[in-house]
Amino acid sequence: MYQYTDFDRQFVRNRAAQYRDQLERNLAGELSDDDFRPLRLQNGWYIQRHAPMLRVAVPYGELSSAQLRVLAKIARDYDQPDAHVYQTAQTTQAKLGTATLPTGYAHFSTRQNVQYNWIPLDKSADVMDLLASENMHGIQTSGNCIRNITSDERAGIAVDEIVDPRPYCEILRQWSTLHPEFAFLPRKFKIAVSGAREDRTASAWHDVGLRLVRADNGDIGFRVLVGGGMGRTPVIASTIRDFLPWNQILNYLEAVVRVYNRWGRRDNMYKARIKILVKAEGQRFTDEVEAEYQQIIEIDGAPHTIAQSELDRVSASFVPPALKGHKPDSALKVAQILRATAENDVEFGRWLKQNVAPHKNPDLRAVTLSFKRLGHAPGDATASQLETAADLADQFSAGEARVTHDQNLLLPWVRCDQLPELWRAARQAGLARSNIRLLTDMIACPGGDFCALANARSIPIAQAITERYQDMDELHDLGEIDLHISGCMNSCGHHHSGHIGILGIDKDGQEWYQVSLGGSDGSTLSGTPVAGKVVGPSFGAAEVPDVIEVVLDTYRRERQNGETFIATFRRVGMDAFKQAANSVRQTAEAELA
Ligand code: HEM
Ligand code: SF4
Repeated sequence: MYQYTDFDRQFVRNRAAQYRDQLERNLAGELSDDDFRPLRLQNGWYIQRHAPMLRVAVPYGELSSAQLRVLAKIARDYDQPDAHVYQTAQTTQAKLGTATLPTGYAHFSTRQNVQYNWIPLDKSADVMDLLASENMHGIQTSGNCIRNITSDERAGIAVDEIVDPRPYCEILRQWSTLHPEFAFLPRKFKIAVSGAREDRTASAWHDVGLRLVRADNGDIGFRVLVGGGMGRTPVIASTIRDFLPWNQILNYLEAVVRVYNRWGRRDNMYKARIKILVKAEGQRFTDEVEAEYQQIIEIDGAPHTIAQSELDRVSASFVPPALKGHKPDSALKVAQILRATAENDVEFGRWLKQNVAPHKNPDLRAVTLSFKRLGHAPGDATASQLETAADLADQFSAGEARVTHDQNLLLPWVRCDQLPELWRAARQAGLARSNIRLLTDMIACPGGDFCALANARSIPIAQAITERYQDMDELHDLGEIDLHISGCMNSCGHHHSGHIGILGIDKDGQEWYQVSLGGSDGSTLSGTPVAGKVVGPSFGAAEVPDVIEVVLDTYRRERQNGETFIATFRRVGMDAFKQAANSVRQTAEAELA
């Protein structure tokens, strides 16, 4: 994984020291809250519904075991609100029906970051120092700038990989961090980079999606997608360049972001994302970018062309780790042991199928630890679970883990012969549920339990559905399904791209939920990226699990030859599903009448 340099270390530590000074001046009354606000936001500190929320950047999702331990320490020692803050929060949430608000945990986000919901602001400088001790920070996790670069959680190990995207992500990270020209864009700007045939990054749903490709002559380059995004107006990104030589990516992105900076709708926050500009201008946007790019090449002298030596220098960080006690000649024997273990234990077999993915190195596997389990919000990790994950990473995965787009943790370097041992250890920690890519491996945002912008709570909906689908036979029979939940139109829970999407809405101060079907993030399972369609009028919270159930019953009735949910939905069409979903509302209305 990336080896932080002295420059990186110094940079992050300096930032933490500056932040401490800013906070102390604010607490002493020398720096007004208004003046302090942009400074804390630039370091990832938001003020949310009940308390400050901290977003920690995790570049392309990579975390070392040492970083995981620091995140665990922060969860245990700092994600603890002052008593009066917690009391007020509990009272507020109790009115909505939330029993207890959890504290002492970290939350994995879909953009591979980590969030905390309770850290008191007066402790925030201590937390920044702790993060900096392992080269972490919250820079550019907020505000209208280029945010954390995300990538494929299986980067560098996927069997379908064309080129490892991580060196490019790292170069982009260095280019975009504190880039003076792009600190105040019209709106936030999110970039995802994928180097594999399958898009596991939802690249078409990003402001910029970069797909590494190999031309017929063997040259490496990028397909450049621009203008994807969710929110109120879901838009799939357009391809504006089929092939851009890899060494031109910074020059070209400079052109894209400049055009956006110049023409983005600063007059209207709801129209400020680049997707609106790309949609409105079409070919004119591409022409502007190409003209700007030509200028950067011809007049400015292509200043950001990446030299081969620079790519080699950065790539040196990403050589596969040497694995302790590795026995490459025992593959056949290992396969026999795994098969025998799976035959003796159905759950191990299911875990192998769902949570274990193939690896470029045939002696290794990528293993996903499931953070989707009953009693926890999707993607929440307690301090002790983070520590266990760190121990598992040390013992089984060369000290490395990755945050996944689906809000789990992946161990990228697991020896096949150690799979049974890892499974037992992960199971003991409650992280081996064999539900990866199944219904209960859902994406959900924090919603109305924590987020000040929410229209409705997401977590109780996620929990009610999880509770209903605890039977592993049933879950596996239903197969792979993307269920995505957002608490408002900002779409942090990616409801538009879910095969089943749930969106919280506010009707007369009450929580209601819209259900949409047929969305896709662009992965192999889901097919061409597309936004789901709403089934009809919205539902009360208690009705949502029933709606999911009738939709899934319709799938079971209609499916042919082991089709997935999304394949059946596309073949059969919306009507049957819509009718089933709306029958829940009609039943509820009949009871009220
Ligand atoms: C509670 C704290 C959060 C707040 C206040 C917040 C706020 C927002 C807002 C205002 C937007 C819309 C920006 C726009 O379209 O102009 C947004 C987008 C987004 N958020 Fe969050 N968010 C929060 C937490 C999260 C979490 C936990 C995740 C991941 C699980 C997340 C993932 C995203 C993503 C992926 C988008 C982009 C959606 C798109 O493509 O339009 N956010 N967020
Ligand atoms: S989707 Fe809405 S409710 Fe959910 S985290 Fe984003 S802003 Fe908050």
